[in-house]
Amino acid sequence: MERIFNFFAGPATLPLEVLEEAQSELTNYKGTGMSIMEISHRAKEYEVINTEAEALVKDLLDVPENYRVLFLQGGASTQFAAVPMNLVSADSHADYILTGSFADKAYQEASKLVKTNIAASTKEENYNRIPRNDEIKVSDNPAYVHLCTNNTICGTQWQSFPDVGNVFLAADMSSDIMSRRFDVSKFGVIYAGAQKNLGPAGVTVVIIRKDLLEGIPTNIPTMFRYDIHAKNDSLYNTPPCFSVYMVNLVLKWLKKNGGLAAAEKRNMEKASIVYDAIDNSGGFYRGHALKDSRSLMNVTWRLPNEELEKTFAAEAAKQGMIGLKGHRSVGGLRASVYNAMSLDGCRTLVDFMKVFQSKNG
Ligand SMILES: Cc1ncc(COP(=O)(O)O)c(C=O)c1O
Repeated sequence: MERIFNFFAGPATLPLEVLEEAQSELTNYKGTGMSIMEISHRAKEYEVINTEAEALVKDLLDVPENYRVLFLQGGASTQFAAVPMNLVSADSHADYILTGSFADKAYQEASKLVKTNIAASTKEENYNRIPRNDEIKVSDNPAYVHLCTNNTICGTQWQSFPDVGNVFLAADMSSDIMSRRFDVSKFGVIYAGAQKNLGPAGVTVVIIRKDLLEGIPTNIPTMFRYDIHAKNDSLYNTPPCFSVYMVNLVLKWLKKNGGLAAAEKRNMEKASIVYDAIDNSGGFYRGHALKDSRSLMNVTWRLPNEELEKTFAAEAAKQGMIGLKGHRSVGGLRASVYNAMSLDGCRTLVDFMKVFQSKNG
């Protein structure tokens, strides 16, 4: 069977080249006579993968020397709790910017554990935009300001990051890490579940400034402690070896294809042809996100009615494009066009959109 164009929001499409490489060494990893899934995480083969993957994250994102990269488990959802547990002391608090349901979940989770404050929110507008700088009210000396850089469900993305004084940013980058260049030094901690731009589900990348590893409370559960994971090079317990192996292959693929500068260029081109199709449809297609907040990763839009939206997704699936149904909280359609989605996939979608409109508009 042919590969299809997979627009799912995550787990999401992976580069075919990477899947084929994994397939080719699935039963016999580099002459060991074993799969990488069968090898001890203490073996030198895995150590190489772990070290290489950390170095590739640093290289691709241009991570400054004073940061560590960790490969953890529990998804981004576990980080919603780990970030405040590690970084907010009893006499302090943290600020949250609410731009979508995952940002809200991060806030809710933190609020169970520490004192929190909402610095800005666009909930009233169904999260169809990122707040303007003048709307962000940072409280008095928070431990950090948390934001979600790309909102997977509503399809919005921070175009640039807010200046919050001498406080650091803490970010959920699950759905746009490695999609564009940015200045890591604005962030004290960054976390991202792998299953969109980095590889399969099962591993979460955490990038953390080294000085923040000092003074982490010792009374939090060991598996939540960044300092323990850092000290053990992400090998405190059995890591998700196969997922990290896949992340390593994806990062090598990204580097081979020109790194983040080239990825960013491809992503802009891909997203812009889909947005152009929406904007040039005379109102048949209506984007959910306001133009200045549009995501390069998740394009969300509506049709004149829900019946047509269902038909659109069903007919697209018949033509080899799946995963286009929007999230129930926003409705409509969503095309997730992460790094591994090709320009060809986006062009095929746009051609389909035009034909669908001419038949149903
Ligand atoms: C932006 C964002 N944050 C967090 C999550 C939750 O991640 P996980 O399922 O890995 O816990 C997702 C999942 O889709 C997401 O898109």
